[in-house]
Amino acid sequence: MTETTEPGIGSEGAGDLPAPNPHATAEQVEAAMRDSKLAQILYHDWEAESYDDKWSISYDQRCVDYARGRFDAIVPDHVQRELPYDNALELGCGTGFFLLNLIQSGVARRGSVTDLSPGMVRVATRNGRSLGLDVDGRVADAEGIPYDDNTFDLVVGHAVLHHIPDVELSLREVVRVLRPGGRFVFAGEPTTVGNSYARALSTLTWHVATTVTRLPGLQGWRRPQAELDESSRAAALEAVVDLHTFEPSDLERMARNAGAVEVATASEEFTAAMLGWPVRTFEAAVPPGKLGWNWAKFAFGSWTALSWVDANVWRRVMPKGWFYNVMVTGVKPS
Ligand SMILES: C[S@@+](CC[C@H](N)C(=O)[O-])C[C@H]1O[C@@H](n2cnc3c(N)ncnc32)[C@H](O)[C@@H]1O
Repeated sequence: MTETTEPGIGSEGAGDLPAPNPHATAEQVEAAMRDSKLAQILYHDWEAESYDDKWSISYDQRCVDYARGRFDAIVPDHVQRELPYDNALELGCGTGFFLLNLIQSGVARRGSVTDLSPGMVRVATRNGRSLGLDVDGRVADAEGIPYDDNTFDLVVGHAVLHHIPDVELSLREVVRVLRPGGRFVFAGEPTTVGNSYARALSTLTWHVATTVTRLPGLQGWRRPQAELDESSRAAALEAVVDLHTFEPSDLERMARNAGAVEVATASEEFTAAMLGWPVRTFEAAVPPGKLGWNWAKFAFGSWTALSWVDANVWRRVMPKGWFYNVMVTGVKPS
């Protein structure tokens, strides 16, 4: 249980965190194909140390604004005027992207970051510590949250609900650990329609990029075969960890069944997702560092411009469920 040597993780210190397993054996991977929770742990332990780079996650203004933008997009104005919350919890924190950036933006004073993957909790608490934030960490399954009733004022999650086998059970747990009047916000969940076009575009991009880079003169753009094979194995495990896509109305129903009131959903990213997924897949298909700073500026600039078009044009005419990302909020009755 105590392989880590990192000091000062908070009230649940580093010594209490189970050790991550970033190098799964072939047998473990085989077993994980039939056990989605083992797959979550192996896949996310394996990804933890490189996750921030892979997803361009940072803790500077760019990601602070992004995290806060997701929160403000779903939380009513009168709540935003009364911030910060005292004590927040994040489920499926990964490297801490959502809660650490929300704390930096003034949404909460302190927080607890939790995840099924010990490797992710280790990185999230390390990130929190290096930002000087009041954060502790715990390995926790969102289907059985290891905190007392009425502990938190705010519970958040980003891109986590679609990994949880019983989402309604997890939302019941969220309502249980919230104080009366406390709020939850889950963002970054894939819609059913959005996921189908994102996956189709990503598959096509991967196929074109890995085929074209076989041509003479373009091989400098090809990643070594061993790395491409590793990506394909990871993609196979990814298929086991991605359990759900959502209709916004499904999320609303589950949140109400879990006991929440003031439930609302919002969705975003249509053309931005149609650009973002192929861009990210292309970046993964070519050697790291090959694309350079101008590419990064182009990718971020065009994604930002298309997000604006989606929010100001497409949102007026398209059903919620056609956007890629859906978020949900609700409140524990007082
Ligand atoms: C796609 S990652 C998102 C990480 C982070 N929230 C972000 O947005 O960057 C999903 C995270 O949920 C975690 N997870 C999956 N199933 C879980 C469960 N049942 N309970 C808690 N965490 C879980 C995974 O280990 C992983 O770190």
